[in-house]
Amino acid sequence: MMTNFEAPGLSDVPETMLWTLHSRAQEAMRSDSAFPDAKAAEIYQCLDYDFERSFGRSNPMAALRAHLFDQSVSAFIAAHPGGSIVNLGEGLETQRYRIDDESCAWYTVDLPEAIAIRERFIAPDERHTHIALSATDRAWMDAVPDDGPLLIAAQGLFMYFQEREVRNLLLDIAARFPRCQLIFDVIPLWVSRASVLAGGLPLTRHYRTPVMPWGVHRFSLRTKLKGWVQRPCSIELIDYPAFPRGAPRLISSVFPLLPGSRHWVPLMVEMQLR
Ligand SMILES: C[S@@+](CC[C@H](N)C(=O)[O-])C[C@H]1O[C@@H](n2cnc3c(N)ncnc32)[C@H](O)[C@@H]1O
Repeated sequence: MMTNFEAPGLSDVPETMLWTLHSRAQEAMRSDSAFPDAKAAEIYQCLDYDFERSFGRSNPMAALRAHLFDQSVSAFIAAHPGGSIVNLGEGLETQRYRIDDESCAWYTVDLPEAIAIRERFIAPDERHTHIALSATDRAWMDAVPDDGPLLIAAQGLFMYFQEREVRNLLLDIAARFPRCQLIFDVIPLWVSRASVLAGGLPLTRHYRTPVMPWGVHRFSLRTKLKGWVQRPCSIELIDYPAFPRGAPRLISSVFPLLPGSRHWVPLMVEMQLR
């Protein structure tokens, strides 16, 4: 267990890595945790940051999302041992500690200030490379092998980009890594519009999220993505499962039964380029 208290000193989008850590660590610290994450809890307890003041009471949304990403990454590793995994905007994600893997090469791409705080707690090594660059800076692609199986994940990132940035990045990924698999999450258009109108979503009196310019209507998502990458691909839209317990579980179990409700919630996308 680390003992130093570290002030993260983050702002804007990099600060949101603390929001998702709040969710994963609080969930992990419960005695009845559905999503164990000992490393997230360890980092959380070492950070000198008032999580509840900024983000309020945690809910397991990001823990749930991380669990979905873990499932896709684990399936990729099982199918392609020795492949490469790129995590764009990885922040303080602790996925590499939750997934038992001795074979793949992992690459974390995040902004320099985010990598600096990550490296206070998580060291790169011969199988885990940290790249301190924006995901929009194509130089990260030079560090990633383009001749083997490749999974590129972006968890909690693309909503903070402009649509043209997401489109251009996917187009360039498809050109550079023609057979890769991509996983990312998408927020619905109404959430994006609300965040733009309000200058961010107020989570508490003390914290407002950054603006989330990219949101998409579910019904137009497949067509849009296929048009962007300009190559054959399969696209799977994955709904978040119900929350693990309590009132949120009831709400997230009943809500999908309402007609049209799937258009109002975030979802995850799995794209396989061919
Ligand atoms: C909501 S956090 C998600 C962190 C992590 N993926 C998770 O789920 O816990 C957003 C992350 O995107 C990173 N980020 C923001 N802009 C970025 C950019 N242009 N390129 C790469 N990462 C970026 C932030 O530094 C932060 O780590």
